[in-house]
Amino acid sequence: MRTLISGGTVVTATGASPADVLVDGETVAALLDPAHTADLAGGAGLAGETGQVIDATGKYVLPGGIDVHTHLEMPFGGTFSADDFETGTRAAAWGGTTTVVDFAVQAKGAALRETLDAWHAKAEGKASIDYGFHMIVSDVTELTLKEMDTLVGEGVTSFKMFMAYPGVFYATDGEILQAMQRAAANGATIMMHAENGIAIDVLVAEALAAGRTDPGWHGRTRPPELEGEATARAIRLAEVAGAPLYIVHLSATQALAAVSEARAAGRNVFAETCPQYLYLGQDDLDKPGFEGAKYVCSPPVRPPAHWAQLWRGLRTNDLSVVSTDHCPFCFKEQKELGRGDFSKIPNGIPGVEHRIDLLHQGVVNGELSLARWVEVNATTPARMFGLYPRKGTLQPGSDADIVVYDPAASHVLSAQSHHMAVDYSAYEGMRVQGEVSTVLSRGEIIVDGGQWHGRAGRGRFLPRGQSQYLR
Ligand code: URP
Ligand code: ZN
Ligand code: ZN
Repeated sequence: MRTLISGGTVVTATGASPADVLVDGETVAALLDPAHTADLAGGAGLAGETGQVIDATGKYVLPGGIDVHTHLEMPFGGTFSADDFETGTRAAAWGGTTTVVDFAVQAKGAALRETLDAWHAKAEGKASIDYGFHMIVSDVTELTLKEMDTLVGEGVTSFKMFMAYPGVFYATDGEILQAMQRAAANGATIMMHAENGIAIDVLVAEALAAGRTDPGWHGRTRPPELEGEATARAIRLAEVAGAPLYIVHLSATQALAAVSEARAAGRNVFAETCPQYLYLGQDDLDKPGFEGAKYVCSPPVRPPAHWAQLWRGLRTNDLSVVSTDHCPFCFKEQKELGRGDFSKIPNGIPGVEHRIDLLHQGVVNGELSLARWVEVNATTPARMFGLYPRKGTLQPGSDADIVVYDPAASHVLSAQSHHMAVDYSAYEGMRVQGEVSTVLSRGEIIVDGGQWHGRAGRGRFLPRGQSQYLR
């Protein structure tokens, strides 16, 4: 089956120009000069007798988004995140994301092998877009360290560790160093949740003892200094191990300063941020009643002074990637677990559907160029996590994961209209400029004209290679 996407402006990480995109089967066959395509019976000739033409006049044609930080059906705080691989990947596709890299979570005492098998079972038959896995290492043992090598061989080339959540996912500095040494040897990337969890637990206990139980205290007990401190410590440990480091969900200027300094010194240090850290803040956590629970995630959303610095970091490439850290918990039944004790509110915000739109709003607001929008949403994530050039760009041979995006349309984000399996929107009522019109995944139209054409189980596991930024 051939598809011609004609009349649009192709936007990649290198710029924007008018071009028609010819898709043959699952891959991009060619990018064509529109003048040349027009000669061929308006392009219909190119699509062939059995083919189709998508009119992208006035629209952008982008590589499908890659969200390298999702938690689908993730166990957390006695419950599971509300989207599974079926609902979560479908919602991602509605929002223009055609690949997710989700986190398999090692439980204490479990082997990485059984953990990875369990996550394969969660995704198979359910995912409607392609997916890969990172592995959360929460139990550093001799076996775990050896298994890291095996997983790299199976295309799971990145491992997340936590300096937060003592007693759950927390790893000591010594354990982190050991895992980093292993990564330095086997070519994997260590991803770090950088918050000083030991100090945070002291602040949490003090707040609760003083009767401060509201969601706003989630933010106040996780100060930005403790994110900055942990980020700087993780960078030092990576330096000692000679390993590359990727800081996940960076939210604070203090943490950004540590990353910027390391990068200026030539270190192999990278960081991502997420839309919630660009748009949401302590005021949201402080909303009356229990409303603030909707915005509880870690690190916490921070006051607006941080947002401006994060946008700057995205421009300067000190922040290289925007992911969502999509980790949805329903307000009514799940966030409720922390009523009367903010430390028991399941941590996480839904967002997999809105990343492309919220970042396009950044383009409209003058924060990012069009090319940078695509770069942080698709191209760098693909390069960083061993998927490029199969994913993350539009060039002959790439998977035909393509988004036709209408910059002239606008829409309002709301739980009434979103496709995530969660009963609230963290962005309720926000109007964003731009809208996904059509989504192709490996050449197949899965979203078009407000209709879902995908199907559960069509998504494939993506064994990933090494980061292209390794040196
Ligand atoms: O609050 C968050 N971020 N929940 C998901 C788990 C994590 O730390 O990424
Ligand atoms: Zn984390
Ligand atoms: Zn996360």
